[in-house]
Amino acid sequence: MHPVQESSVPSLVDLGKRYWLPVYRPRELVLDHGKGARVWDTEGRDYVDFGAGIAVNALGHQDPDLLAALAEQAGKLWHSSNVFYTEPPLRLAQELVAASGFAERVFLCNSGAEANEAAIKLVRKWAASQGRSAERRVIITFRGSFHGRTLATVTATAQPKYQEGYEPLPAGFRYLDFNDAQALEQAFAAGDVAAVMVEPVQGEGGVLPAAPGFLKRVRELCDQHEALLVLDEIQCGMGRTGTLFAHVQDDVTPDIVTLAKALGCGFPIGAMLAGPRVAEVMQFGAHGTTFGGNPMAAAVARVALRKLASAELLNNVKRQSARLRDALSSLGAESGLFSEVRGRGLMLGAVLSEPYRGKAGEILDEAASRGLLLLQAGPDVLRLVPSLNITDDEVDSGLSRLQHALSAFAAR
Ligand SMILES: Cc1ncc(COP(=O)(O)O)c(C=O)c1O
Repeated sequence: MHPVQESSVPSLVDLGKRYWLPVYRPRELVLDHGKGARVWDTEGRDYVDFGAGIAVNALGHQDPDLLAALAEQAGKLWHSSNVFYTEPPLRLAQELVAASGFAERVFLCNSGAEANEAAIKLVRKWAASQGRSAERRVIITFRGSFHGRTLATVTATAQPKYQEGYEPLPAGFRYLDFNDAQALEQAFAAGDVAAVMVEPVQGEGGVLPAAPGFLKRVRELCDQHEALLVLDEIQCGMGRTGTLFAHVQDDVTPDIVTLAKALGCGFPIGAMLAGPRVAEVMQFGAHGTTFGGNPMAAAVARVALRKLASAELLNNVKRQSARLRDALSSLGAESGLFSEVRGRGLMLGAVLSEPYRGKAGEILDEAASRGLLLLQAGPDVLRLVPSLNITDDEVDSGLSRLQHALSAFAAR
């Protein structure tokens, strides 16, 4: 064994370049700690965090209640597997069912992809239980969607750039344009559709909400054709759009909802919520995971769920959303950089206008150099998904840094 040396920033970044599978291209800074919606790097520079770990740190960094829950559970029991019961995942499942208003059972796992993988398997198992042949178990998904990186979820993800080179892909998915109700009607005509899987607000695909009435139409068609409605709320759920579940705003009742990201506020956890039509379909041995329902993850998620469902938090989402939207619209009008500001709650996208298309990455670099962590959703959209308890001060400070970054970028 070679002794491992303490490293400065460049050499830490070099470690990433040398040892990580090069599937990521992180910005060249090394984050060290955070508090609220601010983080600091190893050089002591501070950043306003409008990315929240890709819509994960919904209660910011170092939330004292999450810390206390984690510390308490860490001092008791770390893991038991699903061969034995522990209290936190039992309570969490009960609380998720109660909060959802539709679900009867919960499958706990560790990530979004796993939650969606479970949902896809549940759809197939349900269709099989209905006596449908394999060819009649098609799942419809939408262009621009993002459902994960496992082989099934990347196939559900109707974006070729994520699929190229991974063929052969699993069969039984059909892609349509998002918000195109007519195409959906036609797609059902084949009589082979088992489910529609959809994000109420597309995240990675460009922060694009379902059009008013679209999800309701999806539900109607699913009912007419005896298909299931699966909602991927991994990014838009858990309060991000101003209600605990995003679909409440679309006035639909799903059969399956998947959650991850903000459910653990930074501690890895995912969940699949199953409604009455599918809750008993998977029986003993039909599915499983070693780490799902880990007591530390569940203890944190219980506190996260309670706090994210509170009226105070959800009111803050709406208020800060309006402030950010107004400011982004003004910044866009001033600089000519944005053609549109869209999204719901604290899931906002600023769409770059024609001359700046493809330059989201450069703007993110400029922002980071001015103390602001931003995300992109594709090459043409700046994505803002800050913590849901972000304060006025943090928003103001982030906006002022954004203004500087945009001016510097536009002046290039
Ligand atoms: C809507 C949606 N579904 C699924 C996923 C996959 O989640 P994970 O990266 O935890 O596997 C993501 C991640 O960005 C997502 O935004």
